[in-house]
Order: sequence, then structure tokens, then C-alpha cells
Amino acid sequence: MFQNLKPVAPDPLLGVTEAFRADPSTSKIDLGVGVYRDAAGQTPVMKAVREAEQRLIARQTTKAYVGPAGNRPFAEAMTRLTLGDAHPVIAGKRVAALQAPGGSGALRLGAELLKLSGYTGSVQVSDPSWANHVPLLTGAGLATAPYPYYDRATGGIRSADMLAALERLEPGTVVLFHASCHNPTGADLTQADWQAIATLMAEQRLVALVDIAYQGLGNGLAEDAFGARLLAERLPEVLVAVSCSKNFGMYRERVGALLTITETAERTAIAMAHMQGLARRMYSMPPDHGGAVVAEVCGDAALRAAWDAELTAMRSRVNGLRRDFAAAMRRATGSGRFDFIAGQSGMFSMLGLPPEAVMTLRTEHHIYMAPDSRVNIAGFAGPEVERVAAAIASVAGAR
Ligand code: LMR
Repeated sequence: MFQNLKPVAPDPLLGVTEAFRADPSTSKIDLGVGVYRDAAGQTPVMKAVREAEQRLIARQTTKAYVGPAGNRPFAEAMTRLTLGDAHPVIAGKRVAALQAPGGSGALRLGAELLKLSGYTGSVQVSDPSWANHVPLLTGAGLATAPYPYYDRATGGIRSADMLAALERLEPGTVVLFHASCHNPTGADLTQADWQAIATLMAEQRLVALVDIAYQGLGNGLAEDAFGARLLAERLPEVLVAVSCSKNFGMYRERVGALLTITETAERTAIAMAHMQGLARRMYSMPPDHGGAVVAEVCGDAALRAAWDAELTAMRSRVNGLRRDFAAAMRRATGSGRFDFIAGQSGMFSMLGLPPEAVMTLRTEHHIYMAPDSRVNIAGFAGPEVERVAAAIASVAGAR
């Protein structure tokens, strides 16, 4: 049977890590997969997370099952973190939340829920989008189609083209948005863009699927959730896939949540029962540890404040690295071609290099980035910014 399986290409992002690990160079630099690194080049366990883990381990008396919905206080905390405490869908009991194995698990669960609800259209995905979005959606049997998003010439957004494309969609079409820190481009929608999108989506009766994987790493916890909160306020039906990988530094623990908002409390209760059924059929229930840790952090005022302070420090470090990298690129190229990097947000920017240049950076300079020339700015330890900028300038060519 297994002779029928054909060899597959490595995952576009995880394959970068594999290639990096296999490189014996002692001066190699990994700007591939999106993990935050501190000035020492480490991806630390956040202090608030470590403290919560120690408390949990000290008081844990059982490893008995939690259930397909996962940790309820965690799901409640994610609802409030994402939507804000005073969001009308919370008071109206129109939102249901379920713990999922990471943001990817939440996206897959959301896709399965759409499929189960009889959705036969294409999920509209920004051009470009995170390399795993389309596989996660098509893996659930859904079709996808791109909508205009990134302006490769300016590093900004094609707002007018995007709105025109959304206006042409059939009512009920599902549109996937990045809440903030757009992956792979770093080009985010402004609040005015979100307002225009929300108005159009409401008029056209479109459904939003929002991926929020970097809350707090762009401009702030509330700022990075502005679009998700607005869409949840203005539209009758919204799905939100939440990830705690980056903002809690819980990558390997696989912590996420799916929030489902429907038109009425009754429909939401039914949707929640189906979400649990889907979880049961796919993986039975999520891993406990990460969700319990995040619930502990969010449920304790001192830990929550400590986490907030650490996240703020991470955010300002990433924003500082953005400015440093853009300035280094200006010095290395003698032009403002890469100035857009300073004005973008989150962990990523896309340099607009051809695949051959990305490969030359790997083979000749031992600098690793995603094949589409996405760099993880949060991956710089710091001092290597100049070296990376010089290497990029040497392969970038004229434009
Ligand atoms: C990334 O985009 O690098 C991260 O979201 C990690 C991943 O799973 O792809």
C-alpha cells in the first residue's frame, strides 16, 4: 500500500529549520520560522509562564481527562483577551470558545465546522498568506481563492483592489483575515481599512474567519485585536482562531482556541456542541498543560501584569529591530528600497527577493529565510543586522 505514496517537498517554513540545522557553519543565521529571540539569541520561557507552570505542577493532583472542549477558564480567558471584556457578543452569549491544539488546530477546527455547516464556496485568502493557511483549509475539503492584499511595489496594502474584490463575492462567502502582524508581509490593515471592510462585509453578508496569532506583538493587545473585535461586533457570523504560540511563547505546547460567533445564543450553543464533536472525532481532546498555564496567567492579576510587561518588552524589541534593520538596509543599499520594513508590524517582512537570491543567501552567506524571502525580524539576536543587510544588498540587484 505505502508504495503508492510519492515523495513530497519539505514544508516551506519547517523545511527552513531543517536546512538550517543541517548547515555546519558556525556563523549561520536563522530568520526562517517565526519564533521570537532575545538579545542572547534564545527563545526564552516567559517568566510569568514559568511561574504559572511551577504553581500548577505543585498543586496538580490528577491527570484525568479534561474533555474535548479543553480547559474552560482558558477558553473564557481567550474570549476576553481577544474580544475585550465588554464585547456585546459575550453579554449576548453569542460566542462559544473551545481550546484547540494551537492556532493551526483552531484553524483546522474552524474549517471543519464550515464544512459541516454545508459551506461549498471558496474561502478567500489574502495574496499572499501564511504558507499553512491553504493546506489547513483544503485539508478539510474546502476550496480557497486569493483576494488582492499586498502591494509588492510599496510594501503597503492594495486597499481599493481588496474592497472591490470583496464587493464582488456572493453573500455567505467566507473571508480569512490576519488580525494583525500579517504573515508573511508585515503589512497590516489600518483602522480605517477595518471600518471599510466591516461595513462592506455586513452589507454583502460575508462571513469572517480571523486568524489572531500575534496579539500584542504589533502595536498592543487592544490595537492588534481592533479588526477582530469590530468584525465580531458588526457581523452575525465570525470565526476567530487564536494562537498563544508567540504572545505566551508557548510554541511547542500547542495552545490555541476557536471562537465561534453566530447570530443567536441558541445557534452558538449548537455550534459549540458540534465543535466538541469535531474535536472528539479528530483528536479527542487538546493537550492540557499549555491551556492550563495560560489560564493560570490570565486568572491571576500579578501574573497577568507580569506577562503584559514581558510582552510589551518583546514588542518594543521587535519594533526596534525593525528600525535597525531598515536603517542597515538603507546604509547597505544606499537607497530607501527597504524603508517599508520600519513601518510594518509584527515578526515578518517580505524582502521581495527572487528564489535564487534566497538560495544564494543560504549557500554563500548561511543566512536562512523562507523561500518567498520572508524574514523573521524577531529572529535577529541584534549585532548581525549589519552582516545580514550587507549580504542581502549583495544579492538584491537593481530594481
Ligand atoms: C511561521 O509562520 O513561521 C510560524 O507561524 C510557524 C509555523 O508553524 O509556520
